[in-house]
Amino acid sequence: MALKEVTTTGLIGWVDQRFPLTATVKAHLSEYYAPKNFNFWYFFGSLAILVLVLQIVTGIFLVMHYKPSATDAFASVEYIMRDVPWGWLVRYMHSTGASAFFVVVYLHMFRGLIYGSYRKPRELVWVFGCLIFLCLMGEAFFGYLLPWGQMSYWGAQVIVNLFAAIPFIGPDLALLIRGDFVVSDATLNRFFSFHVIAIPLVLLGLVGAHIVALHEVGSNNPDGVDIKALKDSKGIPLDGIPFHPYYTVHDIMGASVFFIIFSAVLFFAPEFGGYFLEYNNFVPADPLKTPAHIAPVWYFTPFYSVLRAATEDFLLYWLTPAVIAYTLLVFATVKRSIGKVIAAAVAVAMIGGFFILDAKFWGVVGMGASVVILFSLPWIDNSPVKSIRYRPGWHLYLYALFVVAFVILGYFGTQPPSEIGGVLSKICTLIYFGFFALMPWWSEMGEAKMVPTRVTFAH
Ligand code: HEM
Repeated sequence: MALKEVTTTGLIGWVDQRFPLTATVKAHLSEYYAPKNFNFWYFFGSLAILVLVLQIVTGIFLVMHYKPSATDAFASVEYIMRDVPWGWLVRYMHSTGASAFFVVVYLHMFRGLIYGSYRKPRELVWVFGCLIFLCLMGEAFFGYLLPWGQMSYWGAQVIVNLFAAIPFIGPDLALLIRGDFVVSDATLNRFFSFHVIAIPLVLLGLVGAHIVALHEVGSNNPDGVDIKALKDSKGIPLDGIPFHPYYTVHDIMGASVFFIIFSAVLFFAPEFGGYFLEYNNFVPADPLKTPAHIAPVWYFTPFYSVLRAATEDFLLYWLTPAVIAYTLLVFATVKRSIGKVIAAAVAVAMIGGFFILDAKFWGVVGMGASVVILFSLPWIDNSPVKSIRYRPGWHLYLYALFVVAFVILGYFGTQPPSEIGGVLSKICTLIYFGFFALMPWWSEMGEAKMVPTRVTFAH
């Protein structure tokens, strides 16, 4: 078979005749035209890739010395920290890296939210992103068991037990996840396998799909303007600049600032006051001694608070009226009868379920729903404009309220149960779900501002 005709020569030409090297570099870097008005919020995509690489590389070195067995795991981590040359640094980079990953990804998701980057034609970019987020949560959860400290052990015990609350299949499912009747050596082995190989493989595949999907349709920008609508005679968007060298240099600057902050935490506060590495986890796992206060790491706590908010009185006196009011709203405003039928069926099932099924089950459903609801964003936002810049001014307050509710949920999730924490978590759970559930209505209310035809950009 004849070789491909290529314009490159020498070694690169030889490769190009057999593999699309230059074509790929052009398509994704030097001839990928990105909007010229990217701002601060656009650093976090490349930073997420950076942290992913950091986690994989440090993880590879940790696995060289770590022992995935209930008798040796804790001691092997101590060995890494004390005896392996630079082991302390590699371990702290990995543990601080986990928190950094979530900081970066939360900011990255927030950017998508405020600039409407999930809207058509980027729905799949968003869906792949949500799948990445789910994987990331799984990766962090499985990894946390590995040091086999008290918090690793009891955290896993509590979370796996939650699955037992699912009707019919729950107890068997929990048994399948644990591989035993309690968290044990078998659990540690399977969590290790998921943490080290299964989930990272899926994660890498999803990140690839995320970027390919984005490059297929092109990046959004802070104005939400479609730069492909205006092109020059060569077909290059008037408001586009080649990703390389412009954004590669820009992102190196972002990476440098990231490394300064990351190093400051790494060298001066790697445990971050117990938020990144909990103090109880420096005590070996003891299946006979439950710690007084079991809390997940900070990045899970907003969802953990949703779980804890689901008490009997919340279901009966808060959620039941909310579900009834929501169903009436659907009946009053939705024209298609299929919508009304679905809303009525869901409301009856939920309210009936509140009486029949345990509050713990609804806590698990709420926790799961608080993550899964993110997938729906592209289809529930009816605003005529994408970016927050051109939405009615009061929309900003709604986004602010959502963020405040999320932070309050996160804070109380780190704390032992309290009366005030309970009430505020319930209020913030309603705000969190209300933001999404009512979005089809509020997003089209108010007067949107005029969107310019060109992006706003100042040198
Ligand atoms: C490992 C995690 C992730 C990595 C490595 C990653 C990587 C990237 C990169 C490199 C970009 C292009 C640069 C940029 O726009 O900042 C991007 C864009 C985007 N990502 Fe992610 N991402 C991750 C997770 C997520 C998650 C969890 C979501 C949402 C649930 C998400 C949603 C988006 C969206 C909507 C865009 C398009 C933004 C725009 O064009 O304005 N990503 N991602």
